[in-house]
Amino acid sequence: MILVTGGAGFIGSNFVRDWLALNDEPVINFDKLTYAGNLSNLASLEEDPRHIFVRGDICDTAHISRLLAEHRPRAIVHFAAESHVDRSIHSPGEFISTNVNGTFSLLEAARAYWSGLTGEAKDSFRFLHVSTDEVYGTLGPNDPPFTETTPYAPNSPYSASKAASDHLVRAYFHTYGMPVLTTNCSNNYGSFHFPEKLIPLIISNARAGKALPIYGDGMQVRDWLYVGDHCSAIRRVLEAGRLGEVYNVGGWNEMANLEVVHTLCDILDMLDPKASGSYREQITYVQDRPGHDRRYAIDARKIERELGWKPAETFASGIRKTVQWYLDNQAWVHDVQSGDYLKWVEKNYATRDTAQEQQ
Ligand code: NAD
Ligand code: TYD
Repeated sequence: MILVTGGAGFIGSNFVRDWLALNDEPVINFDKLTYAGNLSNLASLEEDPRHIFVRGDICDTAHISRLLAEHRPRAIVHFAAESHVDRSIHSPGEFISTNVNGTFSLLEAARAYWSGLTGEAKDSFRFLHVSTDEVYGTLGPNDPPFTETTPYAPNSPYSASKAASDHLVRAYFHTYGMPVLTTNCSNNYGSFHFPEKLIPLIISNARAGKALPIYGDGMQVRDWLYVGDHCSAIRRVLEAGRLGEVYNVGGWNEMANLEVVHTLCDILDMLDPKASGSYREQITYVQDRPGHDRRYAIDARKIERELGWKPAETFASGIRKTVQWYLDNQAWVHDVQSGDYLKWVEKNYATRDTAQEQQ
């Protein structure tokens, strides 16, 4: 079996569902269930004996050690993290605790477990660390995309904490010979994406008749990848990645935020039209994010060349499926938009000046 951390979050829950749909190897899903972790993301696996959910904190080395000794997984796939840049600006401490200290605790438990393995079990063990393209910092309009050798230059507490965790993982390979792999992926979108991030926030605000907040001028560029493609890249790296190597994962799909929001409005205008007018009329420019990275772009040629991985979904096909998923799963959106989430929205947007889009 494999151990997944953070498997109740957006990408982790997609990974676990896809994994069990493709093969019968059981998964231990270890998750703290923070505001971002949601067991209803795993509702389809409720009766599935191949899925073992354990609530716990990756900072708790003893708990992880007990789990490893009991279940003896052949691999750890590490998703658990605090993942939202805006939250990291308001409360960086939690990012240091989970992303840095938590990854360290997990590595220590994994190292002790792996050191005690022998023969084939030791040789085939893998620790796969899921990271982000944000560790590379920001690009100018004409800069080439990030490669695996682009120097680290993180600009937010989130990306700095992920960069620190990447360095720890790297050090465990070079110092202890631990069989680690790292993926640095671009922005994901798809089903079960928590509606604090751009794409699900825009879909849910649009339908609720609320403002669609664009930070700054909306010309910041991200490289969007469908979550199912990220999961397939992780499976491929786990299966065939070279030990100690880093693989950049991206969709070859750079888009400015405003273009993404316009696309979402246009799809909603088709699939769920308003009584009159377009969702674009709800677009509102708000104060920019401090230290906002201007452009991310991933050069994903290494994973294609070495492991034969390429994204299967285009943005046009993936984003349409995603919007349709949100339309079909309004109860899910409603459920997550309560309690802590509402307090967060208040805090994040209260201090931002607003202005309607001039069209
Ligand atoms: P998410 O915020 O949706 O989910 C994170 C999960 O981790 C939640 O289920 C949460 O409960 C759990 N968690 C948080 N702290 C924990 C702790 N201390 N112990 C155990 N569990 C804990 O995040 P996501 O978007 O699914 O991202 C997953 C991983 O992928 C992260 O490491 C992130 O840095 C990376 N990543 C995300 C993106 C993206 O676009 N979302 C892109 C590239 C890389
Ligand atoms: P986000 O989904 O938070 O991902 P990340 O910051 O990790 O890239 O944001 C994606 C882009 O959208 C980013 O440039 C910030 C911008 N953005 C807005 O313009 N408005 C919003 O309300 C949010 C949440 C994000």
